[in-house]
Amino acid sequence: MNDVDSLRTLLTPEGRALLDEVRDTDPAQELAVATRLRRTHPAELVSAALGQARLRQRAVAKFGAADAGRMFFTPNGVEQSTRASVAAYRAERFAALGVTSVADLCCGIGGDALALARAGIRVLAVDRDPLTCEAARANAEALGLAGLIEVREADVTEVDTAGYDAVFVDPARRSSRRGRIFDPEAYAPPLSWAVGAARTASRAAALKVAPGIPHEAVPEDAEAEWVSDGGDVKEAVLWFGTGAPAGAVRATLLPGPRTLPGAGLPDPEVRTPGRYLYEPDGAVIRAHLVAEVAEQVGGGLLDATIAYVTADGLRPTPYATAYEITDRLPFHVKRLKALLRERGVGTLTVKKRGSAVEPEELRRKVKPQGPNAATVFLTRVAGAPTMLIGHPVR
Ligand SMILES: C[S@@+](CC[C@H](N)C(=O)[O-])C[C@H]1O[C@@H](n2cnc3c(N)ncnc32)[C@H](O)[C@@H]1O
Repeated sequence: MNDVDSLRTLLTPEGRALLDEVRDTDPAQELAVATRLRRTHPAELVSAALGQARLRQRAVAKFGAADAGRMFFTPNGVEQSTRASVAAYRAERFAALGVTSVADLCCGIGGDALALARAGIRVLAVDRDPLTCEAARANAEALGLAGLIEVREADVTEVDTAGYDAVFVDPARRSSRRGRIFDPEAYAPPLSWAVGAARTASRAAALKVAPGIPHEAVPEDAEAEWVSDGGDVKEAVLWFGTGAPAGAVRATLLPGPRTLPGAGLPDPEVRTPGRYLYEPDGAVIRAHLVAEVAEQVGGGLLDATIAYVTADGLRPTPYATAYEITDRLPFHVKRLKALLRERGVGTLTVKKRGSAVEPEELRRKVKPQGPNAATVFLTRVAGAPTMLIGHPVR
C-alpha cells in the first residue's frame, strides 16, 4: 500500500475508530498495543494509525490538542506547517486588507489554508505532493472548512491565480539532503519566483521566509514583518499591497498581536549602564528596531554592536523584558561565584550577547546554591567583557 492509500484507510470508519483507540498510546507501550491490535485489524492499518497518533501528539504544540487530535499529518507536514497562532494572525491581516479569496501556493497539510478559511476567506490550496494534498483535504474536512478550501495537486508555477484577491506563498525551506536552507534562491520554489507571483496579485500578497533573511534580500516594494510567539521568533513575512511605504519594517509579537512599526531611527547612542536593562524581543532585534525600543524607554546601548538597551528609568514596553540591575563587574568566574554565594542564589538564569562563555559550563562552575534567584547577563559594556546581575521586573 502506498502512503496515500495508507492515509485513505485512516479516513474509513474502521480507520477512524482505530485512531480513536490509539489516541493516547504511550510510545513505550506502542509495540504491545500494535501486537494486540494486529489480532483484529490489518497490520498496515495498525501501523498507519499508530504513526498518525504519534504525529498528532507532535502537532499539539502547533495546533492545540483539540485540532491536532482531529487533523491528519505527514512527518514533513508537522515540521513545516505554520503554527495556528501565527497563521491566524496572518489570516486576520489579509482579512483586514479586504481580501476575501487567497491562492495559497505551497499549502502543505494546510496550516495556513485552515486559518484563512476560519477568517472567512475562500482558499485555493495548492501543493505538488499527493500525500500532502490528501492530508490537506482531510484537514479541511475534519475542521468543517471544506466548503471554503479547494485543494489542488499541482506545481504552483503552473497555477493561474487570476481569480483570487491575494497570493500567499510558503516555500519549502528544507531539503532531505541539505537540511535547513538559508539561501532564499534555494527555496522550493525560489524566492524570486514567489516575488514575481506576489506582484501579480490583484489586492495583496504575503511570502513567508526564514527570520534570518538578510534585510538586503527584501524587495524594495515589500513590507517586511518579523513575527514572534511567546518570545520565540517564528518567521519573517514579505507583504505586498499593504499600503505601507517602500522599505517598511515591523515587528509583531504574539499573543496580542502587538506591532511595533519601524520609524527609521538611527542607531541608539552608547551610554553608561543605568539601573535597568531591557532585552528586546527577538522579532524586534531581527527587524532592526532596537532603536525604536530604546526611544520608548529613554535608553541607549551598552555596546554599539549588542542589542541590550540600558536606561535609568522603568518604562514598561511589550517589546522588551526589563531587568533591574543590582551589580556590574568585569567578567570573572570566581567573583561571580562569591557574589552568588553571598546572595544565596540557587537559581541562576544565564543570558548572553557578545560573549563566548557557555551558560551551562558557567552554571557548573559557579554551583549556585540557596533560596534566591538571579539573572546574569554576560555581555560587553563599551567593548569590555562584563557581568550584569539582576532580576526581571514583574
Ligand atoms: C513549508 S511547506 C508549506 C506549509 C504550509 N504553509 C502549512 O502551514 O501547512 C512547503 C510546501 O511546498 C510544497 N512545494 C514546494 N515546491 C512546490 C511547487 N513547485 N509546487 C507545489 N508545491 C510545492 C512542498 O510540497 C511543501 O508541502
